[in-house]
Amino acid sequence: MYPVRRREQLAPRVVELVVQAPRIAAKRKPGQFVIARLADGAERIPLTIADADSSAGTITLVIQSVGKSTADLCDIDVGDAIRDVAGPLGRPTDLLAAGHAACVGGGVGTAVVLPIARALSARGVTVTSIVGARTTSQLLLVDQLRELGEVQVCTDDGSEGHRGVVSDQLAVLCDSTQVDAVYAVGPVAMMRACADVTRPLRIPTTVSLNSIMVDGTGMCGGCRVRVDGQTRYACVDGPEFDGHQVDYDLLADRLTTYRTFEQEALDRRGACTPAGTTP
Ligand code: FAD
Ligand code: FES
Ligand code: MG
Repeated sequence: MYPVRRREQLAPRVVELVVQAPRIAAKRKPGQFVIARLADGAERIPLTIADADSSAGTITLVIQSVGKSTADLCDIDVGDAIRDVAGPLGRPTDLLAAGHAACVGGGVGTAVVLPIARALSARGVTVTSIVGARTTSQLLLVDQLRELGEVQVCTDDGSEGHRGVVSDQLAVLCDSTQVDAVYAVGPVAMMRACADVTRPLRIPTTVSLNSIMVDGTGMCGGCRVRVDGQTRYACVDGPEFDGHQVDYDLLADRLTTYRTFEQEALDRRGACTPAGTTP
């Protein structure tokens, strides 16, 4: 069992959980994730390790409620425990050695970008973060990213920062200054748009693919994606890949495979955010 030590509501339907998991906390690296199962018989779902404290033996998960399993996890509280937390899984981020990196986070993807930005900053790389959300109340982890460097905020409704999408702001940044690498994590359309900005500029761009995962060990094939014309398993070959080589159409299509079953599970449970949307 993995006890929950702290719970914080970061935004509507987005919860941060600090979970006791000492072996994972000691080993994890930026870019890695866990597969969590709330209780016996529950679904296994992948979640990025947003932070870890090896001395306290804890890891931090940032969870957006989009369906039954994430809603169940968001409902747990301090004193409760998660039945299984397997990890750390996946390949660690390939970090830029020196220079200037743009870290772009859309929605809960910002929780994936934060440990990457921290690791880059720790090795002396200049970090500019671009964070996007629909509206101010949905912005995540902006203060934590500000500790690492400049943060440019984008909101769809213009309630804070620039009105518009993060990929447009990335284009402005790349136009005005030297950017040596981009790390972009968020919805599929957002990662595709960021890759479209940097491809003609030949700026190396890493994206983290949120494909459907079951075992997380390369055995089931559920997470397969196509990168540079090759079939790859996001759980063991990724989740991070060269954003210029990803087949985003196939990724988006495969993410909808189980929509009917997911909706049924959600309907049985009660209301939460419809899959693929940000409230
Ligand atoms: P459902 O209603 O079952 O599904 C909603 C949608 O989520 C589906 O349409 C599908 O697109 C996707 N999904 C469903 N099941 C899975 C699954 N087993 N694996 C992946 N996607 C699925 N979310 C966060 O909130 N925080 C994170 O830090 C985070 N990190 C992730 C890291 C990785 C490597 C991956 C692959 C995904 C990550 N996700 C993260 C997404 C999260 O796993 C899904 O939102 C979650 O599994 C949805 O489960 P559900 O039952 O609540 O929703
Ligand atoms: Fe089963 Fe990747 S989740 S092969
Ligand atoms: Mg589910």
